[in-house]
Amino acid sequence: MKRTTLLSLKTLAWLACLWPLELLVWGAVTDTLGPDPTSKIALTTGYNALLLLVLSLAITPLRRIWSRLNWLIKFRRLLGLFAFFYATVHMLTYVALYSGFDVNAIATDIAKRRFITVGVAAWLLLLPLAATSTNWAIRKLGGKRWGQLHKLVYLAAICGVIHYWWQVKPGVLSPLRMTLALAVLLAARPAWSLWQRWKQSKKNAPPLAIR
Ligand code: HEM
Repeated sequence: MKRTTLLSLKTLAWLACLWPLELLVWGAVTDTLGPDPTSKIALTTGYNALLLLVLSLAITPLRRIWSRLNWLIKFRRLLGLFAFFYATVHMLTYVALYSGFDVNAIATDIAKRRFITVGVAAWLLLLPLAATSTNWAIRKLGGKRWGQLHKLVYLAAICGVIHYWWQVKPGVLSPLRMTLALAVLLAARPAWSLWQRWKQSKKNAPPLAIR
């Protein structure tokens, strides 16, 4: 891919990732965030954190299905870091606007409300991934250990989806699309390994005449 094309795509990706934030800032400035601005901020940032996380997980399966999409790898870190960015704004919205920095109220919530507990778990799982996202950290950890650590992203996404289900009212199915997308992406990995092993075993099998 040409440098200028990559640069244009990266600029577009930045603009797209920043779009939900721009809408929130615009809504705050023009006072059009609706009757419950705190909830609007929490829901928008939470939803986009999970969406970007799921999108970042889609990159490897897409590259495997179609090698012409290999260039997508250049966008995985961007998506992952924006997912963490929105998750952090989301968490800070809760700490500042819902809880008013009341440490006791936050601790009680974490202990007593299971959707908060699993949300905190999701954020804590994303933290070491964001912290080790630099080239320097990858070199320091070594590719293998870095890869193992970054498998936590699946657990973070699963916690994010559970958190989503546990915070909607009973009967509301809005988390279903994200759940199905994540289920497909999680199944794609073992399916790919099995497919590779099957292809390899066919290659190694003796020709029919020898058998
Ligand atoms: C410290 C960690 C977290 C806390 C305290 C927290 C808290 C909350 C709260 C209070 C809501 C409900 C907002 C409302 O109804 O007004 C919510 C919704 C949500 N959160 Fe979190 N959350 C945390 C981490 C996360 C993370 C890491 C993700 C994503 C990976 C996430 C994704 C979501 C989603 C998808 C929703 C629902 C959005 C919707 O209904 O459109 N949360 N969270």
